[in-house]
Amino acid sequence: MGTGTNVPLLAEQTGPEGRIVGLDISAAMLGRCARKLAGRRLSADLVLGEAAHLPFADDTFDGVLHHGGIAEFGDRKGAIAEMMRVARPGARVVVCDVGVPTDRRLSLVNRLLLAFQPVYRQHPPIDLVPSDARDVRLSWFHRGGWYLIEFSKG
Ligand SMILES: C[S@@+](CC[C@H](N)C(=O)[O-])C[C@H]1O[C@@H](n2cnc3c(N)ncnc32)[C@H](O)[C@@H]1O
Repeated sequence: MGTGTNVPLLAEQTGPEGRIVGLDISAAMLGRCARKLAGRRLSADLVLGEAAHLPFADDTFDGVLHHGGIAEFGDRKGAIAEMMRVARPGARVVVCDVGVPTDRRLSLVNRLLLAFQPVYRQHPPIDLVPSDARDVRLSWFHRGGWYLIEFSKG
């Protein structure tokens, strides 16, 4: 969840009737997020928890987004499995984080990021997407400095 930067975009998608639920392992971060959302008249249910052990029932959400941070999670496979578990059948799961492209020549910026920011050395965790996920796609954005993995729950 972080400070909730993604909430305005999610609110556009869900509309006024939709419910946004955000989870973070840090209570302090959730506190910052709550203050930021209140200042912008946005709302989301903020939940303290750990990505690889989500406190939600199976098949709960119409969509699941992880934006930034998974490269530093202790259990990336468990976190992606949990995103899939809590998504409703047919829901789209989106995971994006920093990284450099694996399918093309690296730009100078990519090479500098690799040299000075170790987190960029991790490959996108496409190999950790559950085998029963459908329509798995990997793309790059933000000048090839971020990856986006998306898939549907079968
Ligand atoms: C880069 S921030 C997310 C930024 C957010 N998308 C935004 O734009 O505001 C990564 C967040 O992941 C949280 N985090 C780290 N490890 C976690 C874990 N195992 N489970 C849940 N959250 C975790 C951190 O506390 C941090 O707030």
